[in-house]
Amino acid sequence: MKPIDPPKTYRVKSFGCQMNVYDGERMAELLATRGITPAADGEDADLVVLNTCHIREKAAEKVYSDIGRLTKGKTQKKAPMIAVAGCVAQAEGEEIMARAPAVSMVVGPQAYHRLPEMLDKAVQGERITDTDMPAIAKFDSLPQRRRSAPGAFLTVQEGCDKFCTYCVVPYTRGAEISRPYRDLIIEAQKLVEAGAREITLLGQNVNAWSGEDVKGAAIGLAALIRDLAKVDGLRRIRYTTSHPNDMDDALIAAHGEVEKLMPYLHLPVQSGSNRVLKAMNRSHTAESYLKLLERFREVRPDIALSGDFIVGFPGETEAEFEETLSLVDAVKYSAAYSFKYSPRPGTPAATMEGQIAAEVMDERLQRLQSALNRDQLAFNQASIGKTCDVLVERRGKFDGQWLGKSPWLQSVWFEGDVEIGDLARVTLAEAGPNSIRGELLQPALA
Ligand code: SAH
Ligand code: SF4
Ligand code: F3S
Repeated sequence: MKPIDPPKTYRVKSFGCQMNVYDGERMAELLATRGITPAADGEDADLVVLNTCHIREKAAEKVYSDIGRLTKGKTQKKAPMIAVAGCVAQAEGEEIMARAPAVSMVVGPQAYHRLPEMLDKAVQGERITDTDMPAIAKFDSLPQRRRSAPGAFLTVQEGCDKFCTYCVVPYTRGAEISRPYRDLIIEAQKLVEAGAREITLLGQNVNAWSGEDVKGAAIGLAALIRDLAKVDGLRRIRYTTSHPNDMDDALIAAHGEVEKLMPYLHLPVQSGSNRVLKAMNRSHTAESYLKLLERFREVRPDIALSGDFIVGFPGETEAEFEETLSLVDAVKYSAAYSFKYSPRPGTPAATMEGQIAAEVMDERLQRLQSALNRDQLAFNQASIGKTCDVLVERRGKFDGQWLGKSPWLQSVWFEGDVEIGDLARVTLAEAGPNSIRGELLQPALA
């Protein structure tokens, strides 16, 4: 085994969900503790971390083609050191090591805190795989937060025990765990000191979070949110993704009472057909889901609702698909994500009878998306004339233009004299399907 020059620069490429984005940031922080710096835009990095997602379609093939692109035409000395992280690493780590000799490290989503030690071995020419799942140990050994964008992510819960029959997450992220209350309050404080104005609490089932407060009392996500709302300088709180079955009265009530908790709820439903929901092992019905949303609307009438959908689950009939369209009509989502069913190796649905033809899935997805787009535009149009705070996240395409998010998570752009991280007072003026033009009020800041 030949030693390799220690990398001086890195690039982390994250795919998939926001938890992967969070993990990608934490890996970058770990590499920084070793003096490795981010590669400049357009420059090759000495170390590339592919932080992968396994949720749908040819995820693994994509990893191999990324590896191919990174090494193509390069001598061993010139090619970057490659680490494969994330959910594909967890699911197919051994295979990746066997098939892709250019990969030095395979590290699962619960083991990446050991990346620096792995790197020490990798520079000696060793190839290392670590897909252990000591989830809490990981958080304990990560460095403190020192930098943050205005909108920060904070993982509070990981893993999933729900085993929906189509989904790989319980296998790639492991069992549900909640991070301790105290650690979360401290990490939130550090993020705010480092520049965060909004924190989005993350978890595969974020509303399953449970813990103990300083007095040792058992608490859930609502109480955590109420305490985070006391952090000075933190202006907004969001959370994602919730599961209908983990929703409790306290979280619904918090939406009516906690001012910093934004009027937005992402609550995946997947299908409007109770037969399909049962086959998916979702353990909620279309009716129980709608009732839940009603309760959120009672305490927070302006709440923006979003969801996830899968079309073409094995055995889904045209009539069952139409039940999904009816549910969409009933809810009037402000935004939503919809996907064609993708068989995942090792999941029960992958071997179910009645796999749906690709053309049928395409056609259903198109109909669903046109309904969802219609409702998104209608939601945006109904916001016109409202004045709200927009958290300024970045510059727009043209000079003097700014982009940010409304309380309802709409993308808003406007012109004026503000800075990144400001909460600007903006009147929503013109609605597009994906964004809204706003007009800055005077005084400009909230
Ligand atoms: N824990 C969350 C989200 C997990 S994955 C939840 O339960 O809602 C994000 C979304 O990807 C899911 O909500 C689902 O809509 C979609 N998804 C998951 N597995 C899929 C598969 N095999 N094929 C297509 N979409 C899938
Ligand atoms: Fe996957 Fe279902 Fe768990 Fe969500 S709740 S992560 S869809 S198994
Ligand atoms: Fe993808 Fe893993 Fe997230 S499979 S969606 S990166 S939990």
